[in-house]
Amino acid sequence: MKISIVGTGYVGLVTGTCFADTGVNVTCVDIDEKKISNLKKGIVPIYEPGLETMIKNNVDKGRLHFTTNLKESLDQAEVIFIAVGTPPGEDGSADLSHVLAVAREVGKNINHSIVVVTKSTVPIGTAEKVRAAVKGEIEARGVDVPFNVASNPEFLKEGNAIDDFLKPDRIVVGTDSEEAEKVIRRLYKPFLLNNHPILFMDIPSAELTKYAANSMLATKISFMNDIANLCELVGADVNMVRKGIGSDSRIGNKFIYPGIGYGGSCFPKDVKAIIRTANTYNYPLRLLQAVEHINEDQKRIIAAKVKNYFQNEVKGKTFSVWGLSFKPHTDDMREAPAIIIIRELLEAGAKIKAYDPIAMDEAKKEFNNDIEYGQDPYDVLIDSDGLLLLTEWPEFRIPNYNVMKKLMTTKVVFDGRNIYDMHEMNENGFDYMGIGRASKEDR
Ligand code: UDX
Repeated sequence: MKISIVGTGYVGLVTGTCFADTGVNVTCVDIDEKKISNLKKGIVPIYEPGLETMIKNNVDKGRLHFTTNLKESLDQAEVIFIAVGTPPGEDGSADLSHVLAVAREVGKNINHSIVVVTKSTVPIGTAEKVRAAVKGEIEARGVDVPFNVASNPEFLKEGNAIDDFLKPDRIVVGTDSEEAEKVIRRLYKPFLLNNHPILFMDIPSAELTKYAANSMLATKISFMNDIANLCELVGADVNMVRKGIGSDSRIGNKFIYPGIGYGGSCFPKDVKAIIRTANTYNYPLRLLQAVEHINEDQKRIIAAKVKNYFQNEVKGKTFSVWGLSFKPHTDDMREAPAIIIIRELLEAGAKIKAYDPIAMDEAKKEFNNDIEYGQDPYDVLIDSDGLLLLTEWPEFRIPNYNVMKKLMTTKVVFDGRNIYDMHEMNENGFDYMGIGRASKEDR
């Protein structure tokens, strides 16, 4: 089987590589020549655990190819996945120009039956626009080439994308033709072990499923952040409340960790998008509007705690930051809460020294020289007036209290991810402030 995947971003690369791993002949296409020539040399543009080795292995085996030539990639391809970017346009809505440009290119060049699958996260109705774009170009050529469209949203988590692809909870496919269903079912067969379902449905339902899934997860997080803030007021510990409610199988124990708000390339964008879509039908999604507001406020909680602790005297103080990316195991800084927290403290006149195991190059694009960057976690603690834990990388989990004490001027830890034991911190001589955890004195 031969397929083409357009867009060598995060989704396209992971998808292409995982399909190639099952023996499918995959051609990954991108208009960025530098990216393609790098990929041919084994240089991968994103950090995703395991991806580089897997790409190399499949390139060596001759079943994963990279090209800038879309037309060439269509040769004998049974399926083409569109996985190009959909950046927010000026009004915040997804810019579909790249998706539709690919669709037109397919229409201009296709001479055999093919299934055109949208994989990028796109507004409801996009598959129909793709269909129209392909059809328009075929008709302009005065020929008759049969083709089908489908929508196949991805549910990959950054940092765990390969595992998510290889062992999906489910695969969602929106289609309106038996031919498309048949070929997509065959393609995904290797990933359907252990009763993981492939769910075929109509196209708008598949398109909406992606937004509904991410919005539901974002809702769980904002709900817990709201409860966490209440915990502080009433003297409760959200860790206990989380375990208490999470053991109810109807609620479940995943995605109910409070923190400093959700970030990344998906949740913030998708929650906004579904709200916007609903507004166009004059149906305001009130719950999701609240989810968004809570999240915006939550990103400011740690800076507020710092200011409160120092009674608003943070000017001239130096704070150390552990973790910058929006979550561990990625270098992605998009919508990372760290950006807002650090900016607020800088504006208040504080100095920031930061360390992240992977995301420092990305962070430099955001902060330039506005902050200092350390070589390791302890480097940034020298003369520190407080440590802010912003991303729960494993290497921050068991800190060396003696070294910390020696280096830090003010012994206080603001834990944005609740990874530390409050009592252990206190016993080691640190003031500790987590999220939703009233300190001993407050009880
Ligand atoms: C998400 C979805 O999980 C994935 O299915 C979809 O395809 C893309 O969006 P991702 O953005 O990579 O994936 O990250 P995820 O692990 O879901 O975390 C998103 C954000 O929520 C992070 O900022 C994380 O710190 C935060 N989060 C997550 C919490 O604050 N609490 C939780 O309990 C879980």
